[in-house]
Amino acid sequence: METIGILGTGRMGVRLACMFAEAGRDVILASRDIERSSRLVLGLKNSNLRSGSYADAAAAQFVLPAMFLRDGMLNILEPLRDQLDGKIYIDISNPFNDTYTDFILPWDTSGAEQIQNHFPKTRVVGAFKNVWWEVFDAPKFGDMVSDVFVVSDDTQAKTKLFNLTENTPFRYLDAGKLSNARTIERMTLLSGELGQRYGYFPRMNYKLLGEQWIPGEADRISSLILNS
Ligand SMILES: NC(=O)c1ccc[n+]([C@@H]2O[C@H](COP(=O)([O-])OP(=O)(O)OC[C@H]3O[C@@H](n4cnc5c(N)ncnc54)[C@H](OP(=O)(O)O)[C@@H]3O)[C@@H](O)[C@H]2O)c1
Repeated sequence: METIGILGTGRMGVRLACMFAEAGRDVILASRDIERSSRLVLGLKNSNLRSGSYADAAAAQFVLPAMFLRDGMLNILEPLRDQLDGKIYIDISNPFNDTYTDFILPWDTSGAEQIQNHFPKTRVVGAFKNVWWEVFDAPKFGDMVSDVFVVSDDTQAKTKLFNLTENTPFRYLDAGKLSNARTIERMTLLSGELGQRYGYFPRMNYKLLGEQWIPGEADRISSLILNS
């Protein structure tokens, strides 16, 4: 069975560990403080979960660091560089500042691209960036399943991520190239602001609404516009 190593036992790390374990994946939940991850794993009571150090988690086939860039994530991962080579790195980062009012990166880059540039031999796939932590506890909105936008420049890595997420309670959309993370990450900044204004925060996510479209009768007004 393929193993996912999750580094960080905060809001996202623990929930993603539970989600993947419940979907039948083998998960290592890792902390800087191994006693903390052991206690958490004991309390979570899922036989697909085990605890470990960051180095243990970085030995997994899929590595998912669940920490903030602003907390020095790239430096924290530096000692694991050799282990990360060739791995699929599931990047969930949004480069928020300490007050969550803005990003620490300019508009012409993204957390995902910074990570890929810093660790060029890893296969970075961006995902879960818009899913606020509370959503994992009750993923459906009524009977509606929400979306996870998946970005990468590595098509095979993206396919592996899609396979890995089988049986998890989201719809996964291929959101294209890694640099699309610039938009997707900033969508989180927007949803945070909107959610607080309308009282949804942090129970919110995006869903792309659409229908298969076949040109036809509904096109009548377009034809009129063109031909008048
Ligand atoms: N919160 C959300 O709703 C959400 C949604 C989508 C994406 N994200 C992204 O997910 C990542 C994690 O977010 P989170 O909300 O789960 O963060 P969090 O609750 O603050 O947890 C971050 C974890 O990082 C680890 N860590 C390692 N070095 C650290 C340091 N120097 N200072 C503080 N923590 C350190 C800690 O785990 P250990 O002590 O166990 O090592 C900590 O529990 C971020 O990149 C964020 O942008 C968050």
